[in-house]
Amino acid sequence: MRALVTGGCGFIGSHMVRALVRDGWEVVNLDRMTYAANPANVAAVADHPNYRFVQGDICDGGLVRELLEGADAVLNFAAETHVDRSLLEPGAFVRADVEGVVSLLEALRERPGTVFVHMSTDEVFGSVPAPLEMREDAPFAPSSPYAASKAAAELMIRAYAETYGLGATVVRSCNVYGPNQHMEKFIPLFTLRALAGEPMPLYGDGLQEREWLYVEDLVEALRLVLRGASAEPGVRAVHVGSGERLRNREVAELICELLERPRELIRPVADRPGHDRRYALDSSRLRAMGWAPRRRFAEGLALTVAWYRDHGEAWARTANGDFSAYFARQYGERLGTREG
Ligand code: DAU
Repeated sequence: MRALVTGGCGFIGSHMVRALVRDGWEVVNLDRMTYAANPANVAAVADHPNYRFVQGDICDGGLVRELLEGADAVLNFAAETHVDRSLLEPGAFVRADVEGVVSLLEALRERPGTVFVHMSTDEVFGSVPAPLEMREDAPFAPSSPYAASKAAAELMIRAYAETYGLGATVVRSCNVYGPNQHMEKFIPLFTLRALAGEPMPLYGDGLQEREWLYVEDLVEALRLVLRGASAEPGVRAVHVGSGERLRNREVAELICELLERPRELIRPVADRPGHDRRYALDSSRLRAMGWAPRRRFAEGLALTVAWYRDHGEAWARTANGDFSAYFARQYGERLGTREG
């Protein structure tokens, strides 16, 4: 079996690439190698005979068509994913997350037997008031340009299913964390800042709630979904949530505790504009298929923090892009420094 994985050098994509190769799939990894990609994430399979890396853009229709030849499945992880960056540069999100998906859909129209699994997010629903949990058929109400671009991509997939009889599985996940996640995201950023004894910039009152899932548990869910996925016309959505919801402040305090750093490092700063208060997924459909997360948050967080403590600095050095420039732009004023 052969899979085309897009965005396979990013966080979730690379975990999935490694799992697929382990499972015996032939994998072609198409990645544009933006700032979010890190070649170290796929170093473990780089020389494997079943693995091939292609640097390129999902918006390049000719290239996508060529790589689709002989593929049984396409798994799309290629995306701009950081909410804060979407507030600085919304156009980049429309291009990668919407136009990129349309480019894949166009190529898939010519290959009707191909399974298509698309990675989406709980953010398409916007903020979810407690105690609600969103089911697969809940209406979209995205808040950020990032969330709107992911919702738009899903609408295009639906339109292609209706109009051209395309088949797709859309996986909407809650917040994922674990080794190899880019340091711009909350848990890696706070861990690396705590390790360095630097202030950890907590947005607003820090009482926002997120549902946290360890990356290997998402990989297990994706493997299960892929096994059951078909190219039959229509869109099938699946939610992957852990049910473990914590406030950001609690997570920041746990990181301090794990690293034996003072809580005073947690620094309340100006909030993210349009910041969603709460996300919550109803994942009963997937649970009925036999999936359940293996790691509780306390365990997954301890593993993750230990990974960043032991490998974070060396790994961050192999990343693409200039993180310090982004950090200065995003946090310089908030922290009242010109650091970065
Ligand atoms: O919910 C799924 C989504 O989770 C994915 O679709 C996104 O791709 C992924 O980036 C993530 O989005 P969030 O905005 O929830 O993740 P982030 O790590 O940026 O922030 C998590 C929470 O922490 C959020 O409430 C904002 C807060 N935060 C984040 C950063 C980077 C801070 O308080 N300070 C920070 O410096």
